[in-house]
Amino acid sequence: MSSYIIEGGKRLEGEVNISGSKNASLPIIAASILNNNVTKLYNVPNIHDTQITLEILKILGCKIGKKSDKIVIDSRNMKKTEIPEDLMRQMRSSVVLAGAIIGRFKEAKISYPGGCDIGARPIDLHLKGFRKLGIEVEEESGFIKCKCEKIIGNTIHLDFPSVGATENIMLASALAEGETIINNAAMEPEIEDLQNMLNRMGAKITGAGTNIIKIVGVKSLKEVSYTVMPDRIEAGTFLCAGAITEGKIKLNNVNVEHIAPVINKLEECGCKIEILKNSVKLEAPKKLKNVDIKTMPYPGFPTDMQSVFATVLTVSKGTSIVVENIFENRYKYTNELKRMGAKITVEGKTAVIKGVKRLNGTKVTSTDLRGGAALVLAGLQAKGKTTVNNIEYILRGYENLDKKLSMIGAKIKQI
Ligand code: UD1
Repeated sequence: MSSYIIEGGKRLEGEVNISGSKNASLPIIAASILNNNVTKLYNVPNIHDTQITLEILKILGCKIGKKSDKIVIDSRNMKKTEIPEDLMRQMRSSVVLAGAIIGRFKEAKISYPGGCDIGARPIDLHLKGFRKLGIEVEEESGFIKCKCEKIIGNTIHLDFPSVGATENIMLASALAEGETIINNAAMEPEIEDLQNMLNRMGAKITGAGTNIIKIVGVKSLKEVSYTVMPDRIEAGTFLCAGAITEGKIKLNNVNVEHIAPVINKLEECGCKIEILKNSVKLEAPKKLKNVDIKTMPYPGFPTDMQSVFATVLTVSKGTSIVVENIFENRYKYTNELKRMGAKITVEGKTAVIKGVKRLNGTKVTSTDLRGGAALVLAGLQAKGKTTVNNIEYILRGYENLDKKLSMIGAKIKQI
């Protein structure tokens, strides 16, 4: 088990380069299965989740080359269509590999996916989408077997705009016969990034970024080079780190439009924000104001920023109300924050936060990826030393979090 040791109370000041997006990289790496060719990807973050995805591709028969943020995937010799259970369980998002494998081979076998424990995470919408495309889906003793003669385009209505289901359907239908329409599709920027990458490969997809996506099946896809979008959650996390430390920071390699909901709330808290081309500056006030947040599908406030933002609110003036509308069990980290002196009451979807002056350093444990990042922010603000245990969760999704924070004045080290 690894930990971060943080000496709190240092004002963050300086510039940070934001890495490529984790959530965009995963489906884009999966898409490299579809072209039966070579895919060159740039700006891929070097984090545990991308490493696992690449490891799965290797086991399936792809050749992988890797040099810092550049990855080359050659899927020409891929033959296997079954994802090993132990790797599948390490990462929930490995489920998007299924769409790509079926899309190319017309068969796939996966086990139920794992990932962060933030509430029930069913995949019924993914499977409903597959069935609508003519894929036979058999579920038995923890495994899901998919097969078909051919994939035939169809109109699919999602009961909820699920990010993963939207991506999986796009991947499964890119090489289908005919046209697929996804109604009530998720509108997250990562889906637009996947569309752009697939189109660069020769797919015919329109509408990503809106709630109706149209995929016109093509016969084959070709070699591609693509640069992954910046990570909007990493950017949001650093802005909040600046806010909670009375900091003055500049983030480079950001798409400002993607983080508008977070910027908007930080301004309400009293932060001064300056938007530049591909970068953003934040200057925090001495005392932050309370604000209310409600997580919603994009372009609403992102659920992945809920824990980090709530941590900022633990030291703002007055009372703030947070409502989590996407996942049912995303407040586990609040018990750890309470051990640091935060005043939080959780009931169902709602957390009521009464701001305190300062948190107190102590030993806390990450409960999930974003909850872990929230504890790091708490440690940056707290009086004395904070030990954040179980940071394996954090390493899944943040590239060099400790090094990047150190570069702007934080006292943090990994042990
Ligand atoms: C993706 C992101 C994750 C983010 C989430 C919501 C990746 C790798 N992960 O996760 O960081 O927090 O979007 O923005 O991109 N649901 C169903 N049935 C399904 C699928 C989902 O009921 O078949 C429900 C989920 O339980 C949840 C909600 O829909 O309550 C949203 O889930 P979804 O959008 O699918 O999230 P992920 O794709 O898993």
